[in-house]
Amino acid sequence: MTIATTFTAALAAFLAAQGVIAQTTTAIPRWCGKPYESGSPNINPGGQLEPPKPSPTPLLYVQVEPRHSIYVSSEKTGSFIVDAALSKYHGEPYRNSTQQLGGPSQPFNNLFFTISLENTDQVLVSNNVSVNSTNNLFDFDISQLQPQYDAYDVVLYGASDDGNQTFTATTKLFYLPDKKTGSVTKIDNLNGGLLFSNNASNYEFIPFLAFGFYTSWGGYLELSLENVKTYYDLGYSAIHPVASYSSNASLIFDYLDELNLPFQYDMRGTYTNLTSVAEQVTMAKDYSSLLAWYTADEPDGNQDPFNATSLAYDTITKIDKYHPVSLVLNCENYYFDKYSQGADILMEDAYPIGINATWSQKWNTPCNTTYGDCGCDNCAGELQDVSNRLDILAQYEEYLGQSPRPVWAVPQSFDGEQYWDRNPTVDETWVMNQLSLNHKAKSIMMWTFPTLDDLATANSKQSKVVTKSPVLDFLTGAQPKGISVEGHRLLDVAYWIVDNQALISVVNLGYADSSSPVSIELPFAAASTASTPWGSVNWTLSGNALSVQSLDALATSLVILDLS
Ligand SMILES: *[C@@H]1O[C@H](CO)[C@@H](O)[C@H](O)[C@H]1NC(C)=O
Ligand SMILES: *[C@@H]1O[C@H](CO)[C@@H](O)[C@H](O)[C@H]1NC(C)=O
Ligand SMILES: *[C@@H]1O[C@H](CO)[C@@H](O)[C@H](O)[C@H]1NC(C)=O
Ligand SMILES: *[C@@H]1O[C@H](CO)[C@@H](O)[C@H](O)[C@H]1NC(C)=O
Ligand SMILES: *[C@@H]1O[C@H](CO)[C@@H](O)[C@H](O)[C@H]1NC(C)=O
Ligand SMILES: *[C@@H]1O[C@H](CO)[C@@H](O)[C@H](O)[C@H]1NC(C)=O
Ligand SMILES: *[C@@H]1O[C@H](CO)[C@@H](O)[C@H](O)[C@H]1NC(C)=O
Ligand SMILES: *[C@@H]1O[C@H](CO)[C@@H](O)[C@H](O)[C@H]1NC(C)=O
Ligand SMILES: *[C@@H]1O[C@H](CO)[C@@H](O)[C@H](O)[C@H]1NC(C)=O
Ligand SMILES: *[C@@H]1O[C@H](CO)[C@@H](O)[C@H](O)[C@H]1NC(C)=O
Ligand SMILES: *[C@@H]1O[C@H](CO)[C@@H](O)[C@H](O)[C@H]1NC(C)=O
Repeated sequence: MTIATTFTAALAAFLAAQGVIAQTTTAIPRWCGKPYESGSPNINPGGQLEPPKPSPTPLLYVQVEPRHSIYVSSEKTGSFIVDAALSKYHGEPYRNSTQQLGGPSQPFNNLFFTISLENTDQVLVSNNVSVNSTNNLFDFDISQLQPQYDAYDVVLYGASDDGNQTFTATTKLFYLPDKKTGSVTKIDNLNGGLLFSNNASNYEFIPFLAFGFYTSWGGYLELSLENVKTYYDLGYSAIHPVASYSSNASLIFDYLDELNLPFQYDMRGTYTNLTSVAEQVTMAKDYSSLLAWYTADEPDGNQDPFNATSLAYDTITKIDKYHPVSLVLNCENYYFDKYSQGADILMEDAYPIGINATWSQKWNTPCNTTYGDCGCDNCAGELQDVSNRLDILAQYEEYLGQSPRPVWAVPQSFDGEQYWDRNPTVDETWVMNQLSLNHKAKSIMMWTFPTLDDLATANSKQSKVVTKSPVLDFLTGAQPKGISVEGHRLLDVAYWIVDNQALISVVNLGYADSSSPVSIELPFAAASTASTPWGSVNWTLSGNALSVQSLDALATSLVILDLS
């Protein structure tokens, strides 16, 4: 090695640590910014998001957001979500005291606010929320606004009752002209789910959970409409055809319309070509089965230009604001703030089954946080890699002070490429999907179809349960909360409460049967078991505990309880 290359490597390492050159593609091939070819120098990839410095005293973080990502002119009622959270990272310092002229000092319990249009000062909501409360909903008459394609800029002015402490927050509100061709997809910003409307729903917005596969185009869908029908008949609620589409694409998209099989439109190979994006969006925007747009496939892994996803987003939404835009992130912690831009929905694709997380068989190098590619970035090669990735993406949004976007899981349903020694088993596939739902995934789109017959059948069974009432009502009607079970570290348990019922989801991450009794203490009062939509665990409800004598390895179970 010459002095010059040593110097260059040292300089590169220094600059990468500063985040200066991590963006440029150097001669060293990298994945998630890490060199992966044997013999490459070790270079810190940079771009790691760290928690912001916490404030020594809690800050008051006031936020406002429309309940739905878009409204259309046939709707008369809109709604805002108002948060007055205490945060250690974001917001303004505040004093817990107010004093009206001449009066005694009082605690600062309520934030009084107005929500109005920035341009005209027209007030849409005037009310108050408790300090340290989130997800407060305020309906307003949206039909007083003129439908338009551009966003309305909205501002919230908040103050303590004495007016001494003031807070502002802004958001954008979309009130679009109604659309009677094709479909409309909204995001419910409160619970993260989708609302989908088209001719099959009689243009009503119905709660929707996508459960399906990225599906081969050239190797499957394109070959015959029978193949499309086979997929549909398995009972998946949605499909993600993998680009690139051939000249007979319209035949297949027309058929998806006929079946009412909602699809995600993939522009992975073309999303940086804005001319092409505009052409494709114009071509596909009026299909009645169009669910969402999909731009970048692992832009972070590939180190695509930082601005690529937002440029594509702006191009798409100028032509079509009626559908959300999604992309999938592959890296665990590599310029999340940059690559997550330009997405209404974030997807993650941690594939942990059958990998060697510490040694790359493909490249013959070790894998660690700065070096190597083992097929699953910074993974341990265990089921928890999936839930950890979902949790961490939500954590990053909190670090950045962003309102959480829906995250979807892309669970593994394949093997090969010298990273993955084997497919998941049937139990593992069920575990990864249900584990994702426990950790707030709002849809499941597995990689990839065609898959093994037993996985196609197993996922079909699960899809038919989680995409339909009653389970769907919980998954889209609330956010899950976790329950930790003492003495059973490998049990992942979550619950959703809607109206007078709770859905409990239990996932055993253990690869061995648990022979000791399991007792889950519920943090709410339950009266009786209403149904067990999934699994064969024989739970007993007694008091506020769900118990069972033993639990099979990798068991998955869904139980619905009536609350007392
Ligand atoms: C990662 O592995 C590379 C290559 O062996 C090594 O140079 C580097 O020190 C390791 N980094 C960490 C954080 O362990
Ligand atoms: C709050 O405002 C009132 C007038 O409304 C004023 O008299 C008082 O001094 C202010 N208190 C503080 C702590 O700023
Ligand atoms: C403000 O003070 C009151 C009275 O001491 C207390 O009840 C309340 O919890 C405090 N609120 C916050 C957000 O600290
Ligand atoms: C504050 O909000 C509560 C709940 O929305 C409402 O009942 C009350 O009237 C409001 N107070 C004022 C002064 O607006
Ligand atoms: C804020 O609310 C949380 C839970 O809702 C509660 O645990 C916490 O004690 C509250 N903080 C203050 C200062 O009142
Ligand atoms: C699409 O075109 C290819 C190539 O011409 C053909 O083999 C295939 O059958 C066509 N697919 C459908 C669904 O008609
Ligand atoms: C909805 O419209 C599509 C054409 O966009 C048509 O193929 C389909 O049959 C219609 N579905 C219903 C239920 O009317
Ligand atoms: C971008 O897309 C347009 C329209 O499809 C095409 O004509 C053009 O060749 C593409 N440009 C590049 C650089 O691929
Ligand atoms: C996007 O970023 C690239 C550098 O990666 C730059 O060359 C290009 O000008 C940027 N495009 C826009 C529209 O800002
Ligand atoms: C990973 O590969 C290394 C080196 O071949 C080997 O020592 C280790 O046992 C493997 N680990 C797993 C989990 O397969
Ligand atoms: C389920 O558990 C109950 C109470 O423990 C028991 O009476 C019943 O026989 C069990 N049923 C099955 C199918 O194992």
